[in-house]
Amino acid sequence: MMNRWHVLKRLMPLLAGMVLLLSACGRADLSTLRPQGPVAEEQFGLMKLSITIMILVVIVVFAIALYVIIRFRRRPGDKTVPVQVEGNHKLEVIWTVIPIILLIILGVPTIKTVFGLAEDYTKDPNAVQVKVTAHQYWWEFEYPTYEIKTAQELLIPDDAVISIEAKTADVLHSFWIPSLAGKIDTNPGGNVNIMYFEAPKQGVYLGKCAELCGPSHSLMDFKVKVVDRASFERWVAAQKSPVALPADQEIADLLTNQCLSCHAVGDKGGLMYPNLTGIGSRESVAGILINTDDPKYANEGSVEENLKAWIKDPQGIKPGSLMPKVEMSEQQLDAIAKYLADLKLDY
Ligand code: CUA
Repeated sequence: MMNRWHVLKRLMPLLAGMVLLLSACGRADLSTLRPQGPVAEEQFGLMKLSITIMILVVIVVFAIALYVIIRFRRRPGDKTVPVQVEGNHKLEVIWTVIPIILLIILGVPTIKTVFGLAEDYTKDPNAVQVKVTAHQYWWEFEYPTYEIKTAQELLIPDDAVISIEAKTADVLHSFWIPSLAGKIDTNPGGNVNIMYFEAPKQGVYLGKCAELCGPSHSLMDFKVKVVDRASFERWVAAQKSPVALPADQEIADLLTNQCLSCHAVGDKGGLMYPNLTGIGSRESVAGILINTDDPKYANEGSVEENLKAWIKDPQGIKPGSLMPKVEMSEQQLDAIAKYLADLKLDY
């Protein structure tokens, strides 16, 4: 008895630690257990159903096992051999039929939901069409209907089905917005996977890459920003409007030669790499440096500070990223960061 108590006492800190860890699993912007839309709710419903059935089975099986262990234990001095039983039709029928019934209860809604969630909205004119391309280690979002492309921040209206066509530009990734919808893999080899979801509650949700894809896999975050329809339309228009280069010619040249050979701002630059249009009003820089003063984020800072940190040392922040370190003076860095931070979209 003493021994068991000691074991228990040793396990206490571990248990306490696990409770603490799990208690952090409730962020509404990140948790499948706090669904924020109909698709996520339906998936959560399936989880609740299967967990309920599992808990019931565990309770019944453990209760019967405990009862048998106690009721039929060998008592002191008892030397008799118990009655040897072989085969019992009634019991066999019971333990075959009950699992079949449980599997039907679990299977029917699961299959219904799985097929329901596979519905194809890619031809639906009322849905917002988004082509998602995963890159090591960033996300590209193209809105073919509006002919715009953006990166790292998926902006969507709160009143429509969002239809996703996901593919990868390099290796296997997985597109996942825990609180809005289940994940979908982006497979190499040109194949496109589809899914849909709805986000009726305005706000910012966290998206993740859910497939190990290289050294910066865990840093391959993105944001989903849900706004009303009018704001969404304004954002689309703002995204398409022309952007002026920096007034200072030296900075304009530096930006054009160094940054815009890959990136785009408004109507200028290349489209192969993360589009920087409106980066000043995004929630993060590089998807991982959160633009905030809130100390609860480890990577906090203003947009400008985060831009500087990123441009100074992209490999330190996201190892394996294709963003090169650009040689420039402190003054030039300040000017570039200031220019980019001022690229805000009104919506
Ligand atoms: Cu992309 Cu993990």
